[in-house]
Amino acid sequence: MNDWTIIPKEIITADKNRPVIKRGTVIVKNGKIEKIYSKEEWDESKAEGKVLNVPNLTLIPGFVHTHIHLCQTLFRGTADDMELLDWLQKRIFPLENAHTKESLRISAQLGLYELITSGATTIMDMGTIRHQEVIFEELINSGIRAFAGKCMADLNDLMPEFKESTKDALSSSYEFAKEFHNKGNGRIKYAFAPRFVLSCSEELLIETMNLTEEFQGSLFHTHSSENKNEIAAVKKLTGKENIEYFNSIGVLNEKTVLAHGIHVNDAEVQMLKEADTRIVHCPSSNLKLGSGIANVPKYLGNGINVSLGADGAPCNNNLNMFTEMRLASLIQKPLHSPTAMTAEEIFHLATIEGAKALHIDDVTGSIVENKSADLVLLNLENPTMNYFDGLNSTYSNIVYSANRDNVEYVFVEGKMLVNKGVYALHNAFELYSKAKEQLNILLKETDLK
Ligand code: GUN
Ligand code: FE
Repeated sequence: MNDWTIIPKEIITADKNRPVIKRGTVIVKNGKIEKIYSKEEWDESKAEGKVLNVPNLTLIPGFVHTHIHLCQTLFRGTADDMELLDWLQKRIFPLENAHTKESLRISAQLGLYELITSGATTIMDMGTIRHQEVIFEELINSGIRAFAGKCMADLNDLMPEFKESTKDALSSSYEFAKEFHNKGNGRIKYAFAPRFVLSCSEELLIETMNLTEEFQGSLFHTHSSENKNEIAAVKKLTGKENIEYFNSIGVLNEKTVLAHGIHVNDAEVQMLKEADTRIVHCPSSNLKLGSGIANVPKYLGNGINVSLGADGAPCNNNLNMFTEMRLASLIQKPLHSPTAMTAEEIFHLATIEGAKALHIDDVTGSIVENKSADLVLLNLENPTMNYFDGLNSTYSNIVYSANRDNVEYVFVEGKMLVNKGVYALHNAFELYSKAKEQLNILLKETDLK
């Protein structure tokens, strides 16, 4: 059922050795990319499974979002035009705190709907404090590839009731990791998720990093250096800059994936480089919360891994890699030069660099034989794109002009999750009306209505 012969117009592989294959053929067998034929090598006798002959479509690796909050999708449009700490205190923490299993389930379904239909095949999610099992259930059910973990917090001056004891945060995370790490045919991996320095004691951060040792392939995912008021509070609490603090307590290493990394000094850049720590760039969120612009060219110049993430719906307000790619390129150009962050470079951040951030580049992130068939077919043949085969750059069309409407098919492990633009799992209108009902309940509950 998951075997395919895909014959697109061209394959944009995100693999440096063979970046573009014109009129090639990809054979998908048992969920893997079994073989890639050039036009010259191909003949019909080599076909396997169902044949998808799509000479108008462009095949790309699925997008990898390395920082997402599925639990927040339901809150889109309820927390606009605020700065980070206010936004957390007045809206996001109260709403997350009010989540029931039902509202959390709809929030995760909404987020997955939007992510998958816009071409995401892998995400890393930060989770929330309560009912985390619901997020795992929805991730498994959706068919997406994901790192996820229960959000951990044992301090919280912004909202004292939205936290747990250090012991409970650690023990419940450990139990979730035991239950869900490597679930869903190995597509689900555990990412321990201490939220940020202001909600985590030193003991929690250190013990969490120790827990990653017990789960091969798990990660340590947190927010860092996002906002000036946040880092001033971190300095007050710890006496150090955010990354300097992580380094001093031994939680900065190659398993550490830090969202944002905007306000970072030169010494900290060196620490990131030496520790092989990964940065997730979230351009929409960083602009909308007025947090600042991360110096991505500097990270890349230092050989630091940078990937992209949409963050949460209430600070973006989309969960769509096309938006992140376009902005990630455009915001650097006035600061550095129009030659900074080319479309090709950005396309790689959204795909193979995301897979590297999560240490799964042997599995996904590019179209290479033996990797998982995590694939997207885009229809770029459209008068708004000027995609004239060979006359202009496909990277330019994908990064600067395309949007979610161009996504026709999405596969994870060879399973078709989106078929001719239609998501197989949920009816969009049904989901929309359930979301309205659940948001209404949460807003009443929190007195935010
Ligand atoms: N820092 C701590 N929590 C959050 C969150 O939910 N979103 C963002 N953007 N930053 C955070
Ligand atoms: Fe975030």
